[in-house]
Amino acid sequence: MTTDYKAHRLEGRVAVVTGGAGGIGLASVRRLAGEGARVVIGDVDLAAGKAAADEVGGLFVPTDVTSESEVNNLFRQAYDTFGSVGIAFNNAGISPPQDGSILETGLDAWRKVQEVNLTSVYFCCKAAIPYMQRQGKGSIINTASFVAVMGAATSQISYSASKGGVLAMSRELGVEFARQGIRVNALCPGPVNTPLLKELFASDPERAERRLVHVPLGRFGEPEEIAAAVAFLASDDSSFMTANTFLVDGGISAAYVTPL
Ligand SMILES: NC(=O)c1ccc[n+]([C@@H]2O[C@H](COP(=O)([O-])OP(=O)(O)OC[C@H]3O[C@@H](n4cnc5c(N)ncnc54)[C@H](O)[C@@H]3O)[C@@H](O)[C@H]2O)c1
Repeated sequence: MTTDYKAHRLEGRVAVVTGGAGGIGLASVRRLAGEGARVVIGDVDLAAGKAAADEVGGLFVPTDVTSESEVNNLFRQAYDTFGSVGIAFNNAGISPPQDGSILETGLDAWRKVQEVNLTSVYFCCKAAIPYMQRQGKGSIINTASFVAVMGAATSQISYSASKGGVLAMSRELGVEFARQGIRVNALCPGPVNTPLLKELFASDPERAERRLVHVPLGRFGEPEEIAAAVAFLASDDSSFMTANTFLVDGGISAAYVTPL
């Protein structure tokens, strides 16, 4: 069931969401649709992707974001079906266990993470921008992470480097296309309560606690809290924001000493 958000800020807009079959992407699909957008999901998870699209009356396009032709097809189908592409939430990403300390991370793992997390955003922006240029308006939201602005002793070296790349690319695109009405912002979530983190909490509370102690708000974020930020960045409520590092992180990146 789609929740009806009173603001309805996205009526008449078409939103492409990569990685929309689960986690932050799925919560955002629900929120964007709840605010009136027509949503197009690109994901490799065929069953969950289709279920998500059906739930919100949207379109599912099977898409591996590491393939330029599949990404081009995703945006083309969105345009052909709904007549425009006004919002691109480039969100698909992975953090596999093979990606760890630089001393142990092999080239294959490094490259895989770069392709899914960073090269995909290059493909998606390259595909989305020409549609937005036609209408002189668009909002691109690229998912980076709080690790793009701070370092972790528990390293995932390729992941952090990929998110730093997403942040820098978003900033540059935001500046380049600002006067064409296209806004590009990097969304930097803090640690979010996903199945992976829940597992960590259950299996190793001490490890989870080591992370939680750094978050001033004293908890992990919920996918719906990130989705609310996505809807804001997608809407005209953020019309004076572009090339922004948009941290939604419970205060983690600002903290030195945290409250008791
Ligand atoms: N969860 C967190 O704590 C957190 C924090 C900061 C940033 N992020 C970022 O937020 C984004 C979403 O993370 P999440 O926690 O919701 O992850 P998730 O694993 O719950 O969902 C990711 C989605 O992307 C899809 N996907 C994976 N590889 C793909 C590919 N090659 N092509 C198309 N789709 C693909 C998956 O099928 C899945 O539906 C990622 O970019 C992640 O790096 C997450």
